[in-house]
This record gives sequence, structure tokens and C-alpha cells, in this order.
Amino acid sequence: IRTRLPSFHKIEHVKNALENAKNVLVLTGAGISTSLGIPDFRSSQGFYARMKHLGLDDPQDVFSLEVFKRSPEVFYSIAHMILPPEAAYTPLHGFIRLLQDKGKLLRNYTQNIDNLEANAGVLKEKIVQCHGSFATASCITCKYKVPGETLFGHLRRQEIAYCPFCENERKSLLAQLDKMEDEGVYSRKFEYVNSFGVMKPDITFFGEDLPEQFHTTIKSDIEKCDLLICIGTSLKVAPVSEIVNLVPNHVPQILINKDPIYHCEFDVDILGYCDHVITYLTGKELGWRINHKDFDKILNS
Ligand code: OAD
Repeated sequence: IRTRLPSFHKIEHVKNALENAKNVLVLTGAGISTSLGIPDFRSSQGFYARMKHLGLDDPQDVFSLEVFKRSPEVFYSIAHMILPPEAAYTPLHGFIRLLQDKGKLLRNYTQNIDNLEANAGVLKEKIVQCHGSFATASCITCKYKVPGETLFGHLRRQEIAYCPFCENERKSLLAQLDKMEDEGVYSRKFEYVNSFGVMKPDITFFGEDLPEQFHTTIKSDIEKCDLLICIGTSLKVAPVSEIVNLVPNHVPQILINKDPIYHCEFDVDILGYCDHVITYLTGKELGWRINHKDFDKILNS
């Protein structure tokens, strides 16, 4: 444990903060799902480290809207690696559910697109999926929306899915492009023809605004929260990372993360695997039980 406040230097104080809080704002990232074998993004074995073979200038470009518009096959070639597992959740997701059951959860702002909070029974209105999710997908051209699962087969097979309503126009554009290429003519009109009518999961790409819900709730939640807990995130992506600085100083701020974070200041940093930290805190310190099959195993380890 590292700590900033002299009066806030023991696990005892974390325990008190959790016991007394009525409106906990939980900010989560990829680290809360890694125990299920889902890679995080920026660790040495993380998702971005596995993108080297694509030869992109920046591995984050797999989530760049501009790159998707020009070459949707880049995203379609890697998306199968981040498809959410069915029905699973971690003890940490169970902890968020426990806060909800105790009436303490103000909101969980998650940067994760795996939707595993729902598997743990966290209510829709208690979650803000800051970077969207795989739950729905939309046509990049006409915005026709479908349930996300309809795309899963395509994503697994690394095969681009197209919108049925844009199909005729897409074919006509491609035919025009073929003709122009034969004639050696170039037009900017065809710059994004590769992605015309392509379906894209509604996850927030770099270059896209965050979902509306983020903007409608964040201001009042920051004013209302009486405890901030950040878990399993490197806090490298704005505007979510800015939440930490916007929460007033008198509100206790706790970090639970495998690696330290140097660019944000917390009252208490608890460094370790979040499932273990949270099982210890709840099971041993608070006497709370998380509804998860591994809870007792971790508690007794
Ligand atoms: P990162 O990969 O940047 O950070 C994950 C953090 O979790 C790291 O600091 C790890 O040390 C920590 N971590 C990993 N496993 C852990 C564990 N078992 N227990 C505790 N901590 C653990 O992921 P995010 O911060 O979520 O955006 O990344 C933010 C955004 O960047 C993502 O939403 C994604 C990405 O670009 C989009 O997809 C649009």
C-alpha cells in the first residue's frame, strides 16, 4: 500500500471508507477481466503488444475510425481476439454487484467492451460503458443497428459483415471504381469505398465521441460520489482518465491495480491482482461475501 494522506495510511481506512460510503463511483478497465484470460491493452503481454504483425505505426490504430474507414479488414482481422466470453465474470465484477446489492453503487464507469458486468448482475442503469460494447453493431454508412451477436460469426471467421440496406449502392460504387481504375482516373469520392456499408460493433473508436450516456451522467455523478475506486486501468485514455482529477479532493480516492500509476494521485494505492485484493478486503476485513465460485478459494489461499 502506498498512501498520500497521513490519516489514510492503513487498510483500516480503506475498510472504513467502504463501510461508510453511500455513493461509490467505480472506474474500471481491462485489468478486471484479465483473470479470465482476456488480455489487457498496454501490459507487455497485452493486446497492443500482439498487434506488431500488422505493421501499423501505432497499434492503437486497430481502433482508429480513420483506419477502419479506409481498411475495415484491419479491425476484422483482430476483433476475434477481444470477443467477450459467454456467461463468465470475475470476483471483481462480483464485487461491483455486491456494492449494488448493498445500495452503495452510484455507478460503474467501465472502459471495457466485454459487457461482463451484466453477467455479474450489475444493472444497466448502474453501468456506463464509456467505450461502448459489442452488445450492438451499426452500419458505418446508414447507421442501421443490429444486436451485436449477429456479427460474432463474421468476426470469428475474420470476414467483413455488410449492411443489407447499403448492398446495392456498395456494388454500384465498386463497379464505378473498377471502371475508373481501368481508365486511370482517381476521385476522392471513392476514398472510403472499402468501408461503404460495413457493419461495425458499437465500440468507441479513437476519433469517435463517447456514448451520450457518459456525458449525461458524469457531471452529477462526480458531484454526488463519496468514494472513488479505480480498478485495473492504466488511466491513459481521456476523457475517462480525467475523472480522477475532477472528483473533489475531500472524496477518498483509492486505486487497486497491478502496476503503479504515476500521472494521477490517489489517497491510497493498493498494488496487486484485483481479484485477490478485493477478496481480501471484503472477506477478511469487511466480512462481506462476493457471489463468485472462486471467492472461498482465493480467500483461503
Ligand atoms: P490498459 O491495458 O491500458 O491498463 C490495464 C491496467 O490493468 C494496467 O495498468 C495493468 O497493470 C492492470 N492490470 C492487469 N491485470 C490486472 C489484474 N489482474 N489486477 C489488477 N490490475 C491489473 O487498459 P485500460 O486502462 O482499460 O479503448 O485501457 C483503456 C482503453 O484503452 C481501453 O478501453 C481501450 C484501449 O485503447 C478502446 O478500445 C476504445
